[in-house]
Amino acid sequence: MKHENHREDVAGRANVEDTPELLAYYDDLNRFSAGALWTVANKIEPWEPQSQSVPVVWRYADLRDKVLRSVDLVTPEKAGRRVIYLRNPGRADVAAAVGWLYAGLQVMHPGEVASAHRHSASAIRFIMEGAGAYTVVDGHKMTLGANDFVLTPNGTWHEHGVAAEGSPCIWQDGLDIPFVNAMEANFYEVHPDLSQAVGYAVDDMTKTWGNPGLTPYGETWTKRYSPMFKYEWAPTYEALLKRAQCTDGSPFDGVMMEYVNPVTNGPVMQTMGASMQMLRPGEHTKAHRHTGSYLYHVAKGRGHSIINGKRFDWQERDIFCVPSWAWHEHVNASASDDACLFCLSDIPVMRALGLYREQAFGENGGHQPIL
Ligand SMILES: [Fe+2]
Ligand SMILES: [Fe+2]
Repeated sequence: MKHENHREDVAGRANVEDTPELLAYYDDLNRFSAGALWTVANKIEPWEPQSQSVPVVWRYADLRDKVLRSVDLVTPEKAGRRVIYLRNPGRADVAAAVGWLYAGLQVMHPGEVASAHRHSASAIRFIMEGAGAYTVVDGHKMTLGANDFVLTPNGTWHEHGVAAEGSPCIWQDGLDIPFVNAMEANFYEVHPDLSQAVGYAVDDMTKTWGNPGLTPYGETWTKRYSPMFKYEWAPTYEALLKRAQCTDGSPFDGVMMEYVNPVTNGPVMQTMGASMQMLRPGEHTKAHRHTGSYLYHVAKGRGHSIINGKRFDWQERDIFCVPSWAWHEHVNASASDDACLFCLSDIPVMRALGLYREQAFGENGGHQPIL
């Protein structure tokens, strides 16, 4: 029977030599669906998080043509959705981009619409290119442009489409599918009519709930996700520019704003949070690490990040990930232009469950040596 290597010279850690008698004992336990804890203890209780995910950058220059090619290869009727998903090489067991987050690049042509459905997994849809994209969430139609994103929270009916007069649209889907599957709690249902009636003014949820410093008189919202289904790029970027006039921002993240549920000031959904951060020209953040899985989408500009000592260059529309407890720092090498990173994470789960932990890189002025 195969079992784990044991750390040596460490008090309190399992360190039992195999003997023929013990191996026979392990086999015997195995026959009764049991095992000896000391054969696995060091693996299942590591000193610190050991992410199976590896840092990756998915370059849009590599993937855009492949996403578009799916239009010629499969129909939306047969494929359901034309999506190229991002596969973390460290995670052969599950379709995950990083940690317990799924991500994919989806393409849809003008006039196409996907059938309405709902599931226990929550999603965001972040628009990369094209005109005319819209999403209907529980009867609310939200129109979407580049760098806008829409929420389709756990259990909401939703369908995506592109207006007939639009242009081919590509977007990033980000979901908590691996997490909900790991929790063995995922349900999926197709809408009985395959599409929903739009019952409200277009973009009503953002127009109602998305006004800074104002809450709509007479409206109540008790659901556990944000009523502001769509978050737009223009006010986000404006907020970053305004905030940058007042602060140097975080030494680790530059000027960063978190997207929130305007009712609770908490995360946009229970399982996934989103933020946008601006790295000013020439900015090089200090390194830190924290628990949680992070999927960055370059909304603007170019630069690089150093993740666990390795440099990853990125530019607009590239996506890269920072696994849990990986050291990371970001660099905007441009002398004239800012760079903006959209980040999708499972930080609400980490915070809600008391698992969030953060540490600054202490040596070398806060910067990692490049390996
Ligand atoms: Fe969906
Ligand atoms: Fe960070």
